[in-house]
Amino acid sequence: NKYPAFAGPQGRTVDEITQGRRLRRMRKADWSRRLVQENQLTVNDLIWPIFLCEGENRREDIGAMPGVQRFSVDMAVREAERAAKLGIPAIATFANIDPALRDETGSGILDPDNLINRATRAIKDAVPEIGMITDVALDPFTSHGHDGILRDGIIVNDETVEQITKGAVLQAAAGADIIAPSDMMDGRIGAIREALDHNGFQDVAIMAYATKFASAFYGPYREAIGTSGRLKGDKKTYYIDPANTDEAVREAEQDLAEGADSLMVKPGLPYLDIIRRLKDAFAMPTFAYQVSGEYTMIKAAGANGWIDEERVMMETLLAFKRAGCDGILTYFAPIVAERLKAGA
Ligand code: PBG
Repeated sequence: NKYPAFAGPQGRTVDEITQGRRLRRMRKADWSRRLVQENQLTVNDLIWPIFLCEGENRREDIGAMPGVQRFSVDMAVREAERAAKLGIPAIATFANIDPALRDETGSGILDPDNLINRATRAIKDAVPEIGMITDVALDPFTSHGHDGILRDGIIVNDETVEQITKGAVLQAAAGADIIAPSDMMDGRIGAIREALDHNGFQDVAIMAYATKFASAFYGPYREAIGTSGRLKGDKKTYYIDPANTDEAVREAEQDLAEGADSLMVKPGLPYLDIIRRLKDAFAMPTFAYQVSGEYTMIKAAGANGWIDEERVMMETLLAFKRAGCDGILTYFAPIVAERLKAGA
């Protein structure tokens, strides 16, 4: 015998060891597994992030995000109609701004007719029943790709807050239902809340990117909005260190005190612990953003036949539910909605 001879079972039967408790009993059949299932993903959990580009009748592929495209405003309207038919509650827009319109201070955010605002008006006009979430940050509009105003190598907080607050009011005026500040400047939630109220937009809600981490998972997104080659340095002076949990709780607490209606955790899957902690601590509507890098990893491994793409997609989204999410921003949203509709 080539294997070492250790002693095996010591005489107790498995029934004696488990005291008759057999957890496999309820897993034995499909009906019993369905009966004891604790969490479920439905179409009501989905928020679809879409990318916008200039032009007409345009759909541009994004190299690092197979299956995701940028849409011109007219195409975005069609996609919003499709999303509404599928029962997706809301879409979130992100814009690839013409490089000629980007500058040091991201002044394009102050244009009532910028790409984001034009898309919001067109979508709300054609598909009023779908929730419109607009991301507010300077990065699509700055020549350097940072979320804030850059001066002498520093992202200046208070001036940035002033700029994005004005941008947020313009987004609300264009018809946004939820403003989602993704810049992580201090004080922006409170400033935006006051400005919205002051301008008659009391009903416009704020979804705070409360805990946005300085993550490497955003890579493909930067190609999608055309900031990848531009970004000077990194975003560590304003996004949270991926090593920190308590700090994430303080950020969320602060955003809620300033008037946030819901919280978002970003990225998603590597940060399920944060989702659970925020849900338990604050009992607020809590969302996760399954970001571009997470999407791309699943697509790439799926394309190589290394994982079952569909099953992994569904499993990750269920994991968000289990962690305590009320909804998930995911590039898979229309595919998942179709799958759920087909009863799969
Ligand atoms: C920045 C912003 C980012 C994403 C959305 N808005 C991060 C960044 O570029 O630093 C990432 C979304 C994704 O990766 O899917 N305001």
